[in-house]
Amino acid sequence: MDIDPQKSELVVTNFKEQYRPQFHFSPPAKWMNDPNGLVYYKGVYHLFYQYHPEDIVWGPMHWGHATSKDLISWEHKPIALFPDEHGLIFSGSAVVDKHNTSGFGTKENPPLVAIFTYHLMEGEKAGRKDFQTQGIAYSLDNGDTWTKYEGNPVIGNEGIKDFRDPKVFWHDETEQWIMILVAGDHAKIYRSNDLKSWNHLSDFGKDKGAHGGVWECPDLFKLQVEGTDEEKWVLLISINPGAPNGGSGTQYFIGNFDGTTFTTDHTEEKWIDYGTDNYAGVTYNNTPNDERVFIGWMSNWNYARDTPTKTWRSAMTLPRELSLHKEQDVYFLKNYPITSFNNQLNATTISLEDLNAGISNQNITDLNETDISFKVSLKENFEFKMKNTKNETLKFYIDASKKELVLDRRKSGLVDFEKSFGETTHKQPFSTQKDWVELRIITDHSSIEIFIDQGRYVFTDQIFPTENYTTLQITPEHTERIKDVKIQSVKSIW
Ligand code: FRU
Repeated sequence: MDIDPQKSELVVTNFKEQYRPQFHFSPPAKWMNDPNGLVYYKGVYHLFYQYHPEDIVWGPMHWGHATSKDLISWEHKPIALFPDEHGLIFSGSAVVDKHNTSGFGTKENPPLVAIFTYHLMEGEKAGRKDFQTQGIAYSLDNGDTWTKYEGNPVIGNEGIKDFRDPKVFWHDETEQWIMILVAGDHAKIYRSNDLKSWNHLSDFGKDKGAHGGVWECPDLFKLQVEGTDEEKWVLLISINPGAPNGGSGTQYFIGNFDGTTFTTDHTEEKWIDYGTDNYAGVTYNNTPNDERVFIGWMSNWNYARDTPTKTWRSAMTLPRELSLHKEQDVYFLKNYPITSFNNQLNATTISLEDLNAGISNQNITDLNETDISFKVSLKENFEFKMKNTKNETLKFYIDASKKELVLDRRKSGLVDFEKSFGETTHKQPFSTQKDWVELRIITDHSSIEIFIDQGRYVFTDQIFPTENYTTLQITPEHTERIKDVKIQSVKSIW
């Protein structure tokens, strides 16, 4: 039983519908897309999200809301932001205004401030280009209720058709608020002292990175390179279409930010995920110990509106910690499930002989609620499959000669609800030189997340098997190529 955020009535859902994720966040009912306003405050992680409370397809956008103490179990809250005379409420971020720079609260009770895009349908329909502007709202009761600023919009539009998704953070070094948003084929950076009045500082990206589609949902933050004192700035940019395996995906840049301008030297494209279902992901503001926790929308604009669920649509990725690494002068990000996810796991032991025989789920209730990990060599071919009694099969393999990782969902279950969904395999070349790397595979009822080498290469894909997978099969001669097998069932959060 849960509160329908819109009608404040009770919606009956036991979160057991077919394909309902058991340990990934999904709304009780109706359509969801991007995560928004990720902020931690007073022991609580807030997750706002693009929400259409009337239907299971995209429509007039609101900000739905949920809270969590551990980022794993969630409490559903009433809708936080509704459309108003300036437009629908598109994606954006939220900050804790600790020093009450906005004057919306007091020093004793600082406001939470949400910064988002207004999308004015009437303007778009009239063929104008200035229909996206930026607005703000504040909450003085820990995110439960929100008041829009009467001076909205705080940034108007001078004729840029795609002008949206502001991410705001406090820049310690220069003691000012920084906003990064996207403008079609580039990002724009602004500054402010009070979150209300903004000045444009610089632009980035017209001639950098991938440009197969429009830029969306930026994020900018600093990370320390693991094992060193070096600090670099990371810029995330979602792009739709133009991702390496089709449709929407998230690229990133590693460089420097001096309080005014972001610069980068690298010319190669870098991507967070090589699956097709991790989009519009951004990170939390104000986390304890400055952890960089990322959540993405587990879908793709190619088929988001067609997936075979009936009462709700879409889920979020597992929350993932981002870390920065450097090998042979190349910087790269890893993204890997936050450690508190391990509290959801029930240990089960499986022998290599069982694996050899192609284990069935005697000791595991369900292969669609599992976390499987082992070490594998990238120097030899390797393949595993998950199957159900109907022979629907999900396959992942390492092609050592091509140095390629491949996820194949073409025969994984329902795939024909949209043309591109089951059309191709999802591939990525790898350059890791290590002898053994961890392969971790987390499956829920409509998703698989594969983390190779602790998140150096990641594949996130939606899957819709018509019954649960019950057999895990590793090509017999390949079982010698793995070690330290761990198979754990994952507890439901509902
Ligand atoms: C990304 C996006 C954003 C926009 C929102 C609208 O998926 O297109 O750019 O703000 O979705 O729902």
